[in-house]
Amino acid sequence: MQETEKIMATISIIGAGNVGAQVARASIRTGKSVVLANSRHGEGLDGLVAELGERAIVAASVADAVKDADIVVVALPINAYAALPADAFVGKVVIDTGNYYPAWNGNIPELDDERTTTSELLQAALPGASVVKALNNLSAADLTTDGSPAGSSDRRALAIAGDDLDAKVVVRELIDSFGFDVVDVGPLAEGWRFQRDLPAYGVRRNATQMREALAKATRYRDQAKPAVSSESR
Ligand SMILES: NC(=O)c1ccc[n+]([C@@H]2O[C@H](COP(=O)([O-])OP(=O)(O)OC[C@H]3O[C@@H](n4cnc5c(N)ncnc54)[C@H](OP(=O)(O)O)[C@@H]3O)[C@@H](O)[C@H]2O)c1
Repeated sequence: MQETEKIMATISIIGAGNVGAQVARASIRTGKSVVLANSRHGEGLDGLVAELGERAIVAASVADAVKDADIVVVALPINAYAALPADAFVGKVVIDTGNYYPAWNGNIPELDDERTTTSELLQAALPGASVVKALNNLSAADLTTDGSPAGSSDRRALAIAGDDLDAKVVVRELIDSFGFDVVDVGPLAEGWRFQRDLPAYGVRRNATQMREALAKATRYRDQAKPAVSSESR
């Protein structure tokens, strides 16, 4: 985690569970402001906001949370994507942290047959936004414990994918401020390369190792084991 290089920005976090709370902590530690939203108009977030301090606020709705965002982090179960208020996200840079766990999310046919990917589903739900897949391939807890300053030897790397190059620059800068290198796999459709259970998922890797892991990725359909996992999301 870099404490010295701070980006002044407002990070709106939709979903304040394991991932959302950790993104909020990392953001506050690196000098940003956060706006939090959950499915209950902010109910239940008093403790987290008290911990985060005066640069954290709770929004009454997802649309309110997104209004002044420089970056929106969507940290939701992916079956919640379709109900997001798309108009509120027009023009926003949106990070998708989602992973598909059928046992948790229910079966989604277009993901089961790999016609699309989780982040392309979010992009389809938010056509006016620039979605970048990021922050999905590490455990939430690691976000505040595994970062290190830029240039550190063996710095952990995270993968990103997205179609909007400018949005990826913004997301890269955010992740770097959290203490991680970034490996860009290309367009959003390539985001499957670091989805659940593949080599680039979950394991701590530096940038070289992450590139190697991404190169080893194979589609679920080409693997011997079924595309269903009961492991931690
Ligand atoms: N856990 C991890 O280590 C990890 C790591 C990387 C990526 N991910 C992925 O990141 C996503 C979030 O995971 P998580 O573990 O943080 O989940 P979580 O702890 O269950 O939190 C989900 C959050 O989403 C909120 N929510 C659900 N539906 C909503 C809606 N329609 N509108 C607004 N808020 C809504 C919930 O609000 P309420 O509390 O009000 O219901 C809760 O705050 C998942 O796709 C997961 O696969 C998880």
